[in-house]
Amino acid sequence: MAQRGPRGVLYALGRLERWSGGDQIIESVQRAVRALPLGPARDILHGRPGLGHPLHPALVQVPVGTWLSATVLDFLPGVRRGPRTLIGVGLVFAIPAAASGWTDWAELHRQQQRVGLVHALANSVAVGVFTGSFVARSRGSHTLGKRLGLLGFVLTGVGGALGGHMAYRQASGTNHAEYVPHAVTPGWHPLGAVSDLPLGRAVRREVDGVPVMVVREGESTVRVLAERCSHMGGPLSEGEIADGCVRCPWHGSVFRLSDGWNVKGPATAPQPAFESRIVGGRVEARIRQYAERRTAGASAA
Ligand code: FES
Repeated sequence: MAQRGPRGVLYALGRLERWSGGDQIIESVQRAVRALPLGPARDILHGRPGLGHPLHPALVQVPVGTWLSATVLDFLPGVRRGPRTLIGVGLVFAIPAAASGWTDWAELHRQQQRVGLVHALANSVAVGVFTGSFVARSRGSHTLGKRLGLLGFVLTGVGGALGGHMAYRQASGTNHAEYVPHAVTPGWHPLGAVSDLPLGRAVRREVDGVPVMVVREGESTVRVLAERCSHMGGPLSEGEIADGCVRCPWHGSVFRLSDGWNVKGPATAPQPAFESRIVGGRVEARIRQYAERRTAGASAA
């Protein structure tokens, strides 16, 4: 039986996530985006360094805000120049917003990319329609410009809803290691004998039930980072170790072993890091930054 209402929307989105019919297009576009000679601009488009989260959601505020304002003004009698200016500003900012969105999209997993492709399609059509609206208004066809503006805003809403699904349902762009400081209890935790750790190679262990990657750099230096990459949860213990850093095997983010700093994206958040010490030949670790483990209002056990 066909699903109706909000559950029907979720059902349709679930089908879109599983639909593999566009995967060849996705692979071609992904290859093309990854091959662009962006250099350091690629990390900036991701939102690293400085911002600490993806740049794309911040940039889309301008087109969405200006186009919403233009649509509202279109319902007021006699207002003409304001909406056209707002639409023009939105079109200009749509360019960097799209660039950052495509850069992020190329490093997502396939289910997210399927939804992302339709998200981009809706937004691209919206840009085309708003361009038509801008041109029509510039030529004095205000009624056509208003109609195109309204259509463009509906398309922007569809694109925005799909973007929200990607961000909040599919967790694209979120910090996948944020939970770690909340999950590890304060204090030192055992990691096993130092002699069991191979020199210069990462191994997977657990600290207080939380997976970590451990690298022994010398007789008395042991580096410990959270195992699951902050970008999309890739297993860092399977990554390459070089120059005091680990490179994630999934999308190539690079984290400094000493403090978890994300030296290279697409990860925009650093990796949770642990302090370590050796006591009687055995390694112990504790999280560097403790977090409040209880939500506000929760009573102590
Ligand atoms: S999971 Fe994407 S870089 Fe690690």
